[in-house]
Amino acid sequence: MSPFLLTRTLPEDATDAALRADVLHGLTHTPKTLPPKWFYDAHGSELFDRITELPEYYPTRAEREILIARAPEIAATTGARTLVELGSGSSEKTRHLLDALPGLHTYVPVDVSESALTQAGQALIAEHPGLGVHALIADFTGGLALPGTPGPRLVAFLGGTIGNLLPSERATFLASVRALLSPGDTLLLGTDLVKDESVLVAAYDDAAGVTAEFNKNVLHVVNRELGADFDPDAFAHVALWDDEHEWIEMRLRSLTDQTVKIPALDLAVEFADGEELRTEISAKFREEGIRRELAAAGLDLAHWWTDREGRFALSLSVVR
Ligand code: SAH
Ligand code: AVI
Repeated sequence: MSPFLLTRTLPEDATDAALRADVLHGLTHTPKTLPPKWFYDAHGSELFDRITELPEYYPTRAEREILIARAPEIAATTGARTLVELGSGSSEKTRHLLDALPGLHTYVPVDVSESALTQAGQALIAEHPGLGVHALIADFTGGLALPGTPGPRLVAFLGGTIGNLLPSERATFLASVRALLSPGDTLLLGTDLVKDESVLVAAYDDAAGVTAEFNKNVLHVVNRELGADFDPDAFAHVALWDDEHEWIEMRLRSLTDQTVKIPALDLAVEFADGEELRTEISAKFREEGIRRELAAAGLDLAHWWTDREGRFALSLSVVR
């Protein structure tokens, strides 16, 4: 196998069709919504990487702390020969796992962001010359097919990205991950934990305004891909804590009565002054809830590790 393979599992016109369907559905329903996967064009991926370095955004640092502390234990427990990473982005923290897994044959980063996969892949093959890297441009919520590389497989889903799925989507997603695994395979899952509201809201509404720019990037994506005329300055970034659902919601609040045209959909969308468009949820978890959701998908939580401040957890689960 060549050291770096990049496979597009969905043709570009299917991605385009998926964006059209999501925008049509999300902007013609009340309340208006857009799925967070459309944040991540090349600029959105870059903005996310800047978010991970913000003083207010603790999840990346907390998860890195756990990975550094636990990588040897993860390696010994899993004996992984193939590491599949869902929503791998820059693969920056993953390096701690790659360094610790002595028998690793192939790393399979999976992401919708081609730019993130290409950049990360090039860097990784330079750093790990013996390692096969088979990157997949794919939607991890849509029937993933993995290359036939040797087991045991370790599937990593880091960063707390599972929290960007609604509870019903999480159940379907975890069942689909379980279906990819065989006895002896494992799932390493990063989850952000419930904590003080002020800490959570600050992480999603940073002083430098990077998260606001990230949030508005979805409007730029819809403008570019569907010819829409969203004026991002006519929307305000909103981050709020929903205590009932225990999730952060990111929204874009219309600053005026306005009509947005989306020529590719032959659609005009009315926004009232103050109307909000939900762009992301970021659920925060407790150990019992995660254990229950994993068990419902046929996965048994075997290890639960947190950072020293108890802000973030990594769990390792085995196939039942
Ligand atoms: N795992 C990295 C990146 C997290 S950002 C970290 O922990 O820092 C979330 C990543 O998931 C982005 O790179 C984004 O492009 C990707 N992503 C979001 N929704 C996706 C989907 N439905 N399918 C595949 N990748 C997705
Ligand atoms: C990718 N995901 C886990 C991030 C989060 O924290 O929910 C995305 C993000 N949204 C705003 N800031 C970061």
